[in-house]
Amino acid sequence: MDVRLLGPGFFAEVRGVGLADVAERDDAYAFVRAAFEEHSVLLFRCQPITDELQVAYSKRFGPLEVAKVASLGEGTPFSILTNIDRTTGRLMPPDHKEALRARANQLWHTDSSYKETPALASVLSARTIPATGGETEFASMRRAWERLPEATRARLTNTVAHHDYAHSRGKIAPHLASEREKDALPPVRWPMRWRNPVNGRDALYIASHTCAIEGMPRGEALTLLDELVALATAPGCTHLHAWAPGDVIMWDNRATLHRGRPWPDDKPRHMVRTTISATDADGLADMRERKKAA
Ligand code: OGA
Ligand code: MN
Repeated sequence: MDVRLLGPGFFAEVRGVGLADVAERDDAYAFVRAAFEEHSVLLFRCQPITDELQVAYSKRFGPLEVAKVASLGEGTPFSILTNIDRTTGRLMPPDHKEALRARANQLWHTDSSYKETPALASVLSARTIPATGGETEFASMRRAWERLPEATRARLTNTVAHHDYAHSRGKIAPHLASEREKDALPPVRWPMRWRNPVNGRDALYIASHTCAIEGMPRGEALTLLDELVALATAPGCTHLHAWAPGDVIMWDNRATLHRGRPWPDDKPRHMVRTTISATDADGLADMRERKKAA
């Protein structure tokens, strides 16, 4: 079992151990868990992926999220990102709700920061991929935090930001988030720094969903958020992954941003995501205490 770093200080390929090993063996889980805490994004190649294997692997890391209302996969552990219509087998038109959602996924974000229980990790498997485009790009929010001036870090540590699902959808189309989604997903508050309790490393915690910063006028907050995302995702700081069949990637939602990249409308792309909820032991207890105190 070993890991090979592929990205700028984060993003590693795991070799000699696969999803099934992690599902079945404690030593394989311990190895991959340690690599996840260290490198934030892990790539596994050539996996014999099935829904069952993806769930068995993901469950090792913590409780699974249930896909949210009005998404494909609602009520199951699977978030399905696809442009293939399941009933007809045909490609969805570019103005279809799922196509607009794919565009929202192309904004830099972390998964589920807008939830009452945010996500520790996401596991994404490639099921059908286009020959060109459709890559996924990652950035390290630990490295972003380290690059911030000391005074900014001190200021943001206990500053609370608001995360709202409707805000990121609204950047694509005004009514992309339905009333049902808005009711189910009211805005939530999170400190802007997430500390990893395993290694003490801090990460900047913001996303496309972040719509406000407490104690800051709205315009100023939105400008600062744009500047922070630009810093985190500056040239040379990201890693772009071009998918191959059998690839599976797991990322740390506490410490990274990601975005999908566009691909030709007339080509199918079908990806399946499982998402692991954060628990108190993943630093969530600290996040909740600090937001209460703020
Ligand atoms: C996700 C996501 C981007 C992509 O699965 O959470 O943002 O490239 N995916 O499909
Ligand atoms: Mn995502």
